[in-house]
Amino acid sequence: MKVQVIYHSLSGCTEKLARGVFERLTCEEKSLHDLSKESPALDGDILLLGYWVDQAGPCKPMRGLMEQIEGKHVGIFCTMAYWCDASHGTASLHSGAECVKARNTVIGGIACNGHMSQKMIDMFRSMKAGAHSSNPASEARWALMKEHPSECEIALAAERFNERIALLHTLQAQGLAFPPVEI
Ligand SMILES: Cc1cc2nc3c(=O)[nH]c(=O)nc-3n(C[C@H](O)[C@H](O)[C@H](O)COP(=O)(O)O)c2cc1C
Repeated sequence: MKVQVIYHSLSGCTEKLARGVFERLTCEEKSLHDLSKESPALDGDILLLGYWVDQAGPCKPMRGLMEQIEGKHVGIFCTMAYWCDASHGTASLHSGAECVKARNTVIGGIACNGHMSQKMIDMFRSMKAGAHSSNPASEARWALMKEHPSECEIALAAERFNERIALLHTLQAQGLAFPPVEI
C-alpha cells in the first residue's frame, strides 16, 4: 500500500511537518511531494495532504488538488499561526476534510501550530488598528510559536497517521471498509 505525502508551504512550517511525518512513516512504499514544485501523479492508495491555513481553510493550491481527488484514503494535516486547539483550528482542519470527504475516505487529521512568518509579523506591526494589528498578546504568541511545529507535534502527527494506516491494513485484511473519521 503506497502512501504519498503531498504538501504546500510558503514559509517552511508545513514543509517541516510534512518531512517529519514522511521520515517517521513506517510503511515500505512512500513518496514526498512539494506541490509548489510538481503536480504529482496520484498513484498512492493513501494520500496525506498538508497545507498552511489561509483564512480558516486550505491554501489555494492544496484546495485545488483536493477538489480533484477521488477514491482515495486521505489524511489531512495543517499548520496555522493562531492556537491550533481553538475552534479556528478545528474549523481550519474541517474545511480541508470538506474538500475531499464526498469522494474519498478521510482516515484522520491533525492541526498543528506553525510560526507566523516575519513578513506577516511586519505587516501586522505596520497596521494602526484592527483585529490583526500587533498587540502585546499577539507579540507574545508569535514569540512563543517561533519554533513550531515542534518535535512533539511532528511525532504526534506521525503516530496518528501510522496508526490509521495500520488500522486500514487490519480492516482491509478482513474485507472491511475503514469507517470515515468525521473531522
Ligand atoms: C495569506 C495568509 C493567510 C493566513 N490565514 C491564517 C488563518 O486564517 N489562521 C491562522 O491561524 N493562520 C493563518 N495564516 C498563517 C499561516 O497559516 C501559518 O503561519 C502557517 O504555519 C504557515 O505555514 P508555512 O510556513 O508552511 O507557509 C495565514 C498566512 C497567510 C500568509
